[in-house]
Amino acid sequence: MSAFDLVIFGGLGDLSRKKLLPALYSGFVANRVTKDSKIYLTSRSELDKSVYEWLQDVFDATPPACNVDTKTLKSFADNIQIVQISLSDEGEGWSFLQNSLKEQNRPLVHFLAIPPAFFTSTCALLGQYGLNNDNACVVLEKPLGHNRETAAEINNDVAQYFSEEQTFRIDHYLGKEAVQNLLALRFSNLLFEQLWNNRTIDHIQITIAEDLGVEGRGGFYEGTGALKDMVQNHLLQLLCFIAMEPPARLDAQGIREEKLKVLKSLRPLQGTEIDQNVVRGQYKAGAMAGTAVKSYLDDLDLDNSETDSFVAIKAHIENWRWAGVPFYLRTGKRLPERYAEIVIQFKNVPHASDPRWNTNMQPNRFIIRLQPEDHLAMRMMIKDDKEDRAALREVELNLDVSGVGDSKRLGPYLRLMLDAARGDQSLFVHRDEVDLAWQWIDRIADHWASNPNSLKPYQSGTWGPYEAHDLMKRDRRDWYHDASNT
Ligand code: BG6
Repeated sequence: MSAFDLVIFGGLGDLSRKKLLPALYSGFVANRVTKDSKIYLTSRSELDKSVYEWLQDVFDATPPACNVDTKTLKSFADNIQIVQISLSDEGEGWSFLQNSLKEQNRPLVHFLAIPPAFFTSTCALLGQYGLNNDNACVVLEKPLGHNRETAAEINNDVAQYFSEEQTFRIDHYLGKEAVQNLLALRFSNLLFEQLWNNRTIDHIQITIAEDLGVEGRGGFYEGTGALKDMVQNHLLQLLCFIAMEPPARLDAQGIREEKLKVLKSLRPLQGTEIDQNVVRGQYKAGAMAGTAVKSYLDDLDLDNSETDSFVAIKAHIENWRWAGVPFYLRTGKRLPERYAEIVIQFKNVPHASDPRWNTNMQPNRFIIRLQPEDHLAMRMMIKDDKEDRAALREVELNLDVSGVGDSKRLGPYLRLMLDAARGDQSLFVHRDEVDLAWQWIDRIADHWASNPNSLKPYQSGTWGPYEAHDLMKRDRRDWYHDASNT
């Protein structure tokens, strides 16, 4: 990747310290971020120490994927400049950015790691200082609004200064290695594509489970909740990647057109359908790995709250490929472990040719694990070589590329920042997708707002409310991971 300039607005903030800077450092070590690239971190306040010392603290708290050595860290720090600016007022910092960046003939990425309330004023100032020229693009971090209307306002405001081709709405789940591999597997193997439909697939599960609670993020989380924080973006985007038709070309336009068709085909849930197909929960006190943890309300010091820290949804895509195949989505905080996984469960064989097989025959499953490690596997039945010929055994056909170590892989944020620098929008979200996703989510959120008693409690350290299991049990199915861990 050739040299570029990156300005991180909110450069000393949480996202920058926890995700962006560790990712950029790994990229620097791997020479993906070249030594002549420059990083500007904007902030309201000054640093009370050198950039090098500050980075040491940052990486002590959140270590990058690679080793940090003094010499490399010093040279990385030399590429970083802290710029003091206000996000709502002109000033010296803005003139400094203008002088440093306006005439540069290389990609310029503005990463808005700031609350959306500042998107408009920041983009307006970028326009005023001529920093929205043809070399420039803007990366928008979520939340993009809290409903369809507010998302449209943000998109309209940003569009006054940056064209859609210059606007990169990031969803870091799309930068994860397993999602890339999913596309490669689906569209470069005849085998998968032939099986990828309602004739062969029984159902699909997408789980993003987190063990953490809302520690430190309560201000943002309260009133937002899991539906808007996770389902509107990450889960629906993953669903689109699984369900979309093969694009004519695997480029931004091809991918986005196909994702839009999926979102348009999502069956809208309304009224009592929502009560039957969507479960929302909030964590109570419990124990995580043997340690007592507080409830959501106690974490945030609240007497009551209607905010969901858990959601499970049974969704349907109404088109020829997917008619009749349920997509079960679930996400939650304070679940027993942190993992994200997609399970494509195939139908049972139509007939057990040996009646003794019935006892342990499992349907084939294609497992796409996104984290904590990325992993792709097909689960299949074979004859158990230790037993007589009637015995079957389930084995895992591992589809990981052996020998590719983590250090050679780009983390999601690095991959996406480099994509933005080279102008590749294929893993970024078009505004029409944001709009359709909100339209689907708003129906559920509005229904909850008028039926406040639907929030189900669940104990921290468990897999969510009983109703989430019932959602599956009613269909004679189970959440795959929970069943295999019991
Ligand atoms: C963010 C959400 O988008 O994703 C957080 O706002 C969540 O609430 C996070 O914790 C999860 O991301 P990851 O990559 O750690 O699974």
